[in-house]
Amino acid sequence: MKAIQVVKPGKIDIIEKEMPRISKGNEVLIKVRLIGICGSDMHIYHGTSPVATYPRVIGHEMVGEIEEVGLDVKKLSVGDKVVMEPIEWCGECYACRNGRRNVCARLQVYGVHKDGACQEYIVLPEHIVHKVDSRLDWHEAVLVEPFTIGAQANWRGDVRKGDVVFIMGAGPIGLCALQVAKLKGAVCIISDLSDDKLAYAQSLGADYVLNPLRDTITSEVERITDGLGPNVTIDAVCTVKTFEQAVEITSAAGRVVVLGFSETPSAIAQLHITKKELTIAGSRLQSEKFHEVIDWINSGAIKADSFVTHRFPLEDIHRAIELIETHPNEVRKAVLVAE
Ligand SMILES: NC(=O)c1ccc[n+]([C@@H]2O[C@H](COP(=O)([O-])OP(=O)(O)OC[C@H]3O[C@@H](n4cnc5c(N)ncnc54)[C@H](O)[C@@H]3O)[C@@H](O)[C@H]2O)c1
Ligand SMILES: [Zn+2]
Ligand SMILES: [Zn+2]
Repeated sequence: MKAIQVVKPGKIDIIEKEMPRISKGNEVLIKVRLIGICGSDMHIYHGTSPVATYPRVIGHEMVGEIEEVGLDVKKLSVGDKVVMEPIEWCGECYACRNGRRNVCARLQVYGVHKDGACQEYIVLPEHIVHKVDSRLDWHEAVLVEPFTIGAQANWRGDVRKGDVVFIMGAGPIGLCALQVAKLKGAVCIISDLSDDKLAYAQSLGADYVLNPLRDTITSEVERITDGLGPNVTIDAVCTVKTFEQAVEITSAAGRVVVLGFSETPSAIAQLHITKKELTIAGSRLQSEKFHEVIDWINSGAIKADSFVTHRFPLEDIHRAIELIETHPNEVRKAVLVAE
C-alpha cells in the first residue's frame, strides 16, 4: 500500500509499505478515506517542528472506515465511519492523572512522534478511534480533529456565554475556535490579513472582523469593547508580536490562550498580568474533546460543510504542498484522498 513519508526535512516521498495487520485483540484495521493537511504537517516537512522525528509518515486528521476488528473490540464494528484521536498517553503521570493526557510526560502524537494516517490503511487501538454518524459526509468528518483543537482553546480560555472573545487569525485553527466560541454564546472579534478569510469568518458568525493591514488592532478592539478589552484572547497567529498584543489588550480577569510552538521569546511586562490578574493558558492538541465535537458535528450544531476547498489523491502530495504554499488565502483546508 501507499504512504506519504517525510524522509528528512525538505524531502517527502510516496513510499510502498506493507499492509498493516491487527496483532492485538483491542486493535482495529481502518481503510483510510480522507486525511486533512495541517500546518503542523508542513512544519514537519520543512524541518521546523520542534517535536517531530524522521523518517515520518505524516497525517493526524483522518477519517476512514473500519475494515476489520480484533477479538476484544467492543464498541466498533466493520463498516463504521471513524476518526482517530491522534495521541497515545501513559495514564500514570501527573498530567494523565489530572485528565490532561494531551500533555502526558510520555506523549506520542501520530504523524509526529510515530507514523500517522497518510496511508491507505492503518491499525489503531480501539480507545483512540471514535465513531461518527454514518450519514456525515467524509469532508465534514475529516474536520473533527481540527475542531477539537478549537474546543480545547475555548476550554482553556474558559469561554462563557456573553464573553467577548478576540480570535487572532482566521486560518483553520482560528475558524474552528470561532465556531466553538459562537456555540458557547460568546461575542466574537476575529482578525486576519486576508479579507477573503474575514468574509468567510463573518459567514460563520463572527460579529466583528479586523484586518491589521487596515485597522489599528488595539484601538479597534478597545472601541468595540468600550475600553475594557476582550475577556478572552485566543492567539491563532502565534507570532512574537501577537502574543505580546494579546497580553496587552485582554480585559481584567481575562484569559489569554497560547497555541504557538515558537521558541522565540516575547517581551511581556509583568504589570499587565499582575494588574489585570490575567490567566495565560497554553492549549495543546485536546483532552477528551472528541465526543463533544462529534456530537456538535453530527447534530449540525457546528457546520463544517464548507471548510474543505481542495482534494488531492495521495500521489499528488507535492502538488498539494505547492498549492498550499503559493495560494495560502485560497486554501481553507486541503485533503488527501486515499481511495
Ligand atoms: N496548540 C495546538 O494544539 C495547535 C494545533 C494546530 C495548530 N497550532 C498553531 O496554531 C497556529 C494557527 O494554525 P493554522 O493552521 O490556523 O495556521 P494558518 O497559518 O493557516 O493561519 C494563520 C492565519 O493568521 C493570519 N495572520 C498572519 N499574521 C496575522 C496578524 N498579524 N494578525 C491577524 N492574522 C494574521 C494568516 O493570514 C492566516 O490566515 C499555528 O501557529 C499553528 O502552529 C497549534
Ligand atoms: Zn492538525
Ligand atoms: Zn502520562
